[in-house]
Amino acid sequence: MNCKVADIISKARATQHLTKQEIVSLLGDNDINDRLFAAADQVRAENVGEAVHLRGLIEFSNICRQNCFYCGLRRDNAGIRRYRLEPDTILAFAAKAKAYGYKTLVLQSGEDDFYTTDRLQQIISGIKALGLVITLSIGEKSRAEYAAYRQAGADRYLLRIETTDRRLYAALHPGMSWENRRRCLWDLKELGYEVGTGCLVGLPNQSLEALADDILFFQELDADMVGLGPFIPNADTPLRSAQGGSFTASLKVMAITRLLLPDANIPATTAMETLNKNGRIIALQSGANVAMPNVTEGEYRQLYALYPGKICINDTPAHCRGCISGKITSIGRTVAGDFGFRVKRAAAKRV
Ligand code: SAM
Ligand code: SF4
Ligand code: FES
Repeated sequence: MNCKVADIISKARATQHLTKQEIVSLLGDNDINDRLFAAADQVRAENVGEAVHLRGLIEFSNICRQNCFYCGLRRDNAGIRRYRLEPDTILAFAAKAKAYGYKTLVLQSGEDDFYTTDRLQQIISGIKALGLVITLSIGEKSRAEYAAYRQAGADRYLLRIETTDRRLYAALHPGMSWENRRRCLWDLKELGYEVGTGCLVGLPNQSLEALADDILFFQELDADMVGLGPFIPNADTPLRSAQGGSFTASLKVMAITRLLLPDANIPATTAMETLNKNGRIIALQSGANVAMPNVTEGEYRQLYALYPGKICINDTPAHCRGCISGKITSIGRTVAGDFGFRVKRAAAKRV
């Protein structure tokens, strides 16, 4: 093993600070992977404990006004059948999720203008009345819209930066701007949301330097949650022939993120399990402390087709709940019973 790289892991543990070049060295050296994953697992145990937080995911619309090059929901993809759930259906799914024991729901969709601020406020207050915590993941909105959702009771917001490489961002997101994406994240922070961000790993022309910048960006934002996973090419998109990201590279970015943001909530993502049948368990043993099982009912799971091979598309919420709980207990961890807000523990250790 390269001693210098091993020293970088020790430095990250001791100080929660690494330079861009140090992160690049970790990303570029695959001999240290086991040591990196073990260190991230330890930091996870010391800072966020053994309990795994479950967030029930409702995919409520696959209609999107944006055209991100990698995503199956992109506006120009004529190859999928579109759907949107009525507010009452979303509330019915939420009530069922509560009955399965979920305490937090993630409401995710394309950027679908059908859901006006009024409709979203109605959905949010209906779910809050059930006593659940709400994470929204519905894309870029104005500050006033974010403020209105917050006022209605939304607690958290997930918006991946996707990549901090501005040129790559511009190449993959026609009609969108990286500055606006950043603006959204800072608005969300200022409005008092718990803010989640993240990136795609393995985008075409994405360098190790760009991934290092992504990790430093998560730290700069002091993200409360960081969700990341491999880019998986979708045949219905312009990136159909791209190579895609690897499971190991995604796991490495996640593990380094855990070293630098010790008390953040970090999910073991669905895309990781798409590339490796034990992907979420391995992620939970390499720094992750959250899982987001699907609680969408019926055929909608299949229609929310971001990329091929997505897990759980033929399963029910009941099955997924049992499945993930079984996986978590099989590795000696527990399912958390609380709402799973970030508890800032690491600040005192920072130098
Ligand atoms: N529209 C919202 C947004 O973009 O923030 C939320 C829904 S979007 C489908 C959720 C995430 O899916 C994106 O942040 C993106 O990283 C991920 N995603 C889209 N296409 C993907 C692909 N081909 N492989 C892996 N992840 C993908
Ligand atoms: Fe729409 Fe989000 Fe997919 Fe982009 S990633 S096309 S914004 S659903
Ligand atoms: Fe859905 Fe395992 S979590 S089948």
